[in-house]
Amino acid sequence: MNSCYKSGNYDVLYARYLKNASQLTNQIRIDRRMSYVDLCGGTGAVSRELVKKGAADITVVDLNRNMLKHAPVGIKRVVANAEEWKPERRYDAVFCRQAITYLNLERLEKVIDSALKPSGVFVFNLICTEKSTIASFDRKAYELNGKRYQEMTLILFGRAYHFQHSEKDGIDLTSFRMYGRSDIKSAFRNWDINVNRGPKAMYFVLRRKRKRD
Ligand SMILES: C[S@@+](CC[C@H](N)C(=O)[O-])C[C@H]1O[C@@H](n2cnc3c(N)ncnc32)[C@H](O)[C@@H]1O
Repeated sequence: MNSCYKSGNYDVLYARYLKNASQLTNQIRIDRRMSYVDLCGGTGAVSRELVKKGAADITVVDLNRNMLKHAPVGIKRVVANAEEWKPERRYDAVFCRQAITYLNLERLEKVIDSALKPSGVFVFNLICTEKSTIASFDRKAYELNGKRYQEMTLILFGRAYHFQHSEKDGIDLTSFRMYGRSDIKSAFRNWDINVNRGPKAMYFVLRRKRKRD
C-alpha cells in the first residue's frame, strides 16, 4: 500500500495534512541545545518545523528510504523500522506525527524508553474522528492550490482504509489502526500522559513516571 511513498509525491498528495505540522512541535518548548528525533518522519514535516524553531540536532527515522530523500538537508537520516530501532544515543524529545497508528504500541514503548534521556518527552498526535471505529464510511471532495482532491475513508472494526486521489498526483491507498486514548494508557502505563485536544487531533506529551521511594 502507500503507493505515494514509493513515487515520492507524498507532499503534494497530502498537502492538506502537512499544513499543521507546527501544532505538534508547539506542544513543547524547542531549545536549540537539545536533541530531537522525528520518528516515522517521512519527508520531514516535523523536522522542517524544528529547523525553523532553531533546533540543530535532529535525527529523522523512517523505514522508507524514498520518503527520507525529501527530508531537509543537514539532519541525520536513519532508515529503520520504528518498532525495532536501536538508538545509538539518547535524546531530549521524540516526535511522531501521523504515524503511531502504523505501529504496535507495546513495541513502540520499548523503543521510546531506549531513545529518551531520563527527563525526555515523547510527543505525538492521534487524529480525532466523530465516526464510529466499529463501522463507518466518509467521502470528501475538495480543492487545494488549484488541484481537485478526493478522499474516502472506510473504518471497519478499529482499522481504517484510506483512499486519496488528486487528478495530477495520482492515488494513494493506506491502512492503519484507530487507536484511542485507552490504548495509549495501557501501552504507556509507566508514563505520565498529558493530552491537548485540537480541532481535528489529540496531541499527547508523555514523560516517564517518577519512581516513588
Ligand atoms: C502518514 S506518513 C507521516 C510522515 C510524517 N511524520 C509527516 O508528518 O508527514 C507515515 C510515515 O510512517 C512511516 N512508517 C510506517 N510504518 C513505519 C515503521 N514501522 N517504521 C518506520 N517508519 C514507518 C512511513 O514510511 C511514512 O513515512
